[in-house]
Amino acid sequence: NRIVVLISGNGSNLQSLLDQAAAGRLNGSVVAVISNKADAYGLERARAAGVATAVLPGKDYAERERFDTDLMALIDSHQPDLLVLAGFMRILTPGFVRHYAGRMLNIHPSLLPKYQGLNTHQRAIDAGDAEHGCSVHFVTEELDGGPVILQARVPVFAEDDATTVAERVHVQEHAIYPLAVRWFCDGRLAMKDGRAWLDGTPL
Ligand code: GRF
Repeated sequence: NRIVVLISGNGSNLQSLLDQAAAGRLNGSVVAVISNKADAYGLERARAAGVATAVLPGKDYAERERFDTDLMALIDSHQPDLLVLAGFMRILTPGFVRHYAGRMLNIHPSLLPKYQGLNTHQRAIDAGDAEHGCSVHFVTEELDGGPVILQARVPVFAEDDATTVAERVHVQEHAIYPLAVRWFCDGRLAMKDGRAWLDGTPL
């Protein structure tokens, strides 16, 4: 399987995918990493792993549609089976989402449907949640609203702040994202009727 990863920043989730791919545990390889930020550290991770990189700066575009059209052409030039969003901080147009429907995954740092959007760790703390976590989901036109595939939970302690909770969640992200990608590459995952399916059973 050919996997293209979109990033905007640090790329620690990208790293876990590169590591698992190198260990032969993805049943696929990352063929390209594309960032909308030229200074994203994840680009260095990709280069270190010998993976092709490209930068498409959002600030060069006045219109979201134009950016997404160019991004699609760039992605499709690598003929991906799967498109993986890993900290890609842009809202995608409906046309883009439709084009990759059922073959685009995202990871979100909350127990969806809780805390769609930004600042999830602080919001969980402010709400006094005893539990927080992360979710891998198929991407649909609803931001952070696509069908959930896999979640991991972490405890929230009284002495936690957003940084300590984020660290705890990140460890889990790095475990569950490669697992979901592997399921997809093994042909076990699908999106149908607005739900995620594993081995023919709705999740
Ligand atoms: C992660 O917390 C992920 O859940 C969110 O963006 C962050 C990306 O982190 N979508 P990294 O760039 O993979 O380190």
